[in-house]
Amino acid sequence: MSSYASLYEALGGADGIRGIVSKFYPKVQAHPLLAPLFPKDIDPVMEKQILFLTQFFGGPSLYSDEYGHPMMRARHLPFPITPERAAAWLECMSAALAESSIPEELRQLTIERLSGPAHHFVNTESDSSIQ
Ligand code: HEM
Repeated sequence: MSSYASLYEALGGADGIRGIVSKFYPKVQAHPLLAPLFPKDIDPVMEKQILFLTQFFGGPSLYSDEYGHPMMRARHLPFPITPERAAAWLECMSAALAESSIPEELRQLTIERLSGPAHHFVNTESDSSIQ
């Protein structure tokens, strides 16, 4: 990582981010706690996530250029995000990184960076529709 200018570059730049995100969403769609929150047609969500993570990891500001200020917590407010769902989201991402052959140390760093926002997006302590 130390020889890279950003996490974005360390993860493989545009191709790397696209690869990770395309491995991530099938896991989200297969997860019992996460799947019900997402639309069947996941492609538009995937495209937005590619733009967002590119910028979040220090690449070009693709998301803001298209959608303005990210306001990510606000954009997640319509969805009941419990602590369990935040953990599940991070587990899916961790598995997607492992499948993308990202080295362990870099995987840990990436998950550390995402843990802050994931826990920050928690807006519901428990969801009575899930057990
Ligand atoms: C904590 C667990 C999380 C859950 C349960 C969750 C769930 C969701 C859901 C349901 C959507 C809307 C899908 C739709 O358009 O219908 C969404 C959108 C999105 N999420 Fe998350 N999310 C989580 C964490 C994160 C994290 C950690 C990030 C990035 C740091 C992130 C980035 C995004 C982005 C970029 C979008 C698209 C926003 C837009 O509409 O422009 N999410 N998320």
